[in-house]
Amino acid sequence: MRVLVTGGAGYIGSHTTVELLGQGHQVLVLDDLSNSSEESLRRVAELAGRPADFVQANVGDAAELDAAFTSFRPDAVIHFAGRKAVGESTRLPLLYYRENVAATVTLLETMAAHGCHQIVFSSSATVYGSASEPPFTEDAPTGATNPYGHTKHMIEQILADAAAADPSLSVAVLRYFNPIGAHESGRIGEDPKGIPNNLLPFVAQVAAGRRTGLQVFGNDYPTPDGTGLRDYIHVVDVAQGHLAALARLADGAGCQTWNLGTGRPFSVLEVISAYEAASGVRIPYQIVDRRPGDVAASYADVSKAGRELDWTAHRSLEQACADTVRWQAANPDGYAQ
Ligand code: WQD
Repeated sequence: MRVLVTGGAGYIGSHTTVELLGQGHQVLVLDDLSNSSEESLRRVAELAGRPADFVQANVGDAAELDAAFTSFRPDAVIHFAGRKAVGESTRLPLLYYRENVAATVTLLETMAAHGCHQIVFSSSATVYGSASEPPFTEDAPTGATNPYGHTKHMIEQILADAAAADPSLSVAVLRYFNPIGAHESGRIGEDPKGIPNNLLPFVAQVAAGRRTGLQVFGNDYPTPDGTGLRDYIHVVDVAQGHLAALARLADGAGCQTWNLGTGRPFSVLEVISAYEAASGVRIPYQIVDRRPGDVAASYADVSKAGRELDWTAHRSLEQACADTVRWQAANPDGYAQ
């Protein structure tokens, strides 16, 4: 197939593009490089043995998008592009509504104008909020507690409404839990700009000596060791989940949602121990107050994707830590040359 991957130079986008190329698909990556590096695409080409096409553009730029569709003629879109920092979204909500929600409407309008009827959307377990208790099934009540989560929730609604109005439109909504790890080659991985918001990249930078210590956001949660429980899923499992969803889109129209998780939660302290074992480095940490907006526990019921996509996560937390150690050691400054 001819697949347009928005945000394809990013963390999950680059790992998915390797899998797409490996399966023989033609890929055009459209990315504005605001939170990614073109170097990742050079490495993707190295790993896949052939390159994806690339256009530097913002997915909300209707003229650029139209030109890309005219020249590449995609059969399907995988839509990763968007801003994803919870804290930033609270400070700059309009930026998030423009770059996540409005840009997705522009993308859907361009797809319709060019007869492209298949889209896989990068959603997030954050839409489950604190409306119900885990393990979350796809029909669990949803809600969001911050503008970033609101944008994901709104886009899911937009996609459902668009699919209801256009019987030719086929939509896969993928709710990621906590993607971690890196390609086993150590050539591509997570390269956050500035201070990492997320646990694993922060721990990785502590182990590499780039940060002095980790702050653990609360140990007074109603969990076995008091720290937050999350469903950490290897990024290559997430990438392969996208290919499984893409294959499913060809089977028929409508809007379907699947969790991409492992179903097995780990606590912050368990993650620290796993990373110490993988790296051989002690991770100094101190317990501080809870982070506003955090929930105690978030993990997936993964049976629907197993049943309908014939997909399950295979890689362990230990493997994800080992792959991150390899990526971090080979690329102490990420993709910066
Ligand atoms: C994991 C656990 C923290 C950092 C968010 C978004 C989600 C997705 C992934 C984009 C929690 C604890 C963390 C630290 C800590 N984002 N923690 N010290 O919050 O589950 O999910 O990122 O796609 O949509 O909601 O991930 O990695 O930030 O936190 O103690 O320095 O680690 O409290 O329990 P989160 P996270």
